[in-house]
Amino acid sequence: MNPASSKKFKNPRAQHDFKGRTCSIVSVGSYVPERILRNADLEKMVETTDEWITSRTGIRERRIAADDEFTSDIAAKAASRALTKARLQAEQVDMIVVATITPDMLFPSTACLVQQKIGAHRAAAFDIEAACSGFIYGLEIGQQFIMSRTYDTVLVIGAEKLSAIIDWSDRNTCVLFGDGAGAAILQNRPGSHGLLTACMGADGTKAHLLSMPGGGSRCPATSESVAARMHYLRMDGKETFKNAVNAMYTAAKESLRRCEIDIRHIKCVIPHQANRRIIDAVGERIGAEPEQIFVNLDKYGNTSAASVAIALDEAVQCGRIQKGDLVLLIVFGAGLTWGAAVIEW
Ligand code: UT7
Repeated sequence: MNPASSKKFKNPRAQHDFKGRTCSIVSVGSYVPERILRNADLEKMVETTDEWITSRTGIRERRIAADDEFTSDIAAKAASRALTKARLQAEQVDMIVVATITPDMLFPSTACLVQQKIGAHRAAAFDIEAACSGFIYGLEIGQQFIMSRTYDTVLVIGAEKLSAIIDWSDRNTCVLFGDGAGAAILQNRPGSHGLLTACMGADGTKAHLLSMPGGGSRCPATSESVAARMHYLRMDGKETFKNAVNAMYTAAKESLRRCEIDIRHIKCVIPHQANRRIIDAVGERIGAEPEQIFVNLDKYGNTSAASVAIALDEAVQCGRIQKGDLVLLIVFGAGLTWGAAVIEW
């Protein structure tokens, strides 16, 4: 018998007095820009090869937003697709949470710009910044508002225009990232368990491993900061890699422990799509079979907060996730931040 279909799990939320209320992802939607940047194109821009990028990362191509296409546009397109699938009108959305490290501007929030673009006039709107972990942080925030009966419909979006903060002359980073967005609509769905648990973690002592030093209050934009290339993403790849594997493994184990299930009960594992070697190492450590793990980084590279959201949408669209399946999301990013969530679909 397939353990995934004969699962028995504990719902960690059930111990709280939510009077039968749950929080489900009732629909997902995603959008990636049209323009494709292939490894062969990068060979003409920096000293790299398709062979190096493919073998060290698994990435073959990534999407790049148009000059006049911003994070709020990408986010709004993903959100509209999720709303259509859920057969909801934008006016029904109570709250919009946008997870991004590439907001259109420092303020106002990208969530407010999305609210205007999709016409969600009733919705409260704000951004969160947990880098590549932002989508799970957003789901957990959204869930709190649903479970507390504050709101009925929450829109959580992970959206990035990373191409705007990439140093296109730095081969260490420019081959890794891409643009895109994924959106999820959260509601109470009677009779379904929905989001069973979400563990989140952070370690600010390692903030220096992955950052963009310029543009904030510590280093506002000056001609010197621009000349020193402070307004681009910087990463210590090797250290980030090691921390990613450990943190993703620990978060995944903790989320399974809370639900009293093991990896065999999970139908589909959706890890943050940063590097194929990280995904393989985490998969091996948690004991997942390769066919359980969903990978699409070959097409999009690392889209940070959008990464697991886009992958979740694609996994649902191609039938890898069916109603009632258990899904494990695992994320990791700058901060450092990490998280894992178990969802009954
Ligand atoms: O989303 C947040 C989480 N992000 C991550 O988790 C990313 C984590 N890090 C990584 O994925 C990997 O560390 C990288 C893909 C960034 C780098 O892979 P690596 O196996 O750790 O390579 P490395 O940094 O040790 O570099 C090996 C060599 C170096 O040359 P030397 O010093 O050995 O001569 C690099 O200069 O590869 C060189 N290199 C490249 N060569 C060709 C670095 N980037 C490139 C490149 N093309 N694009």
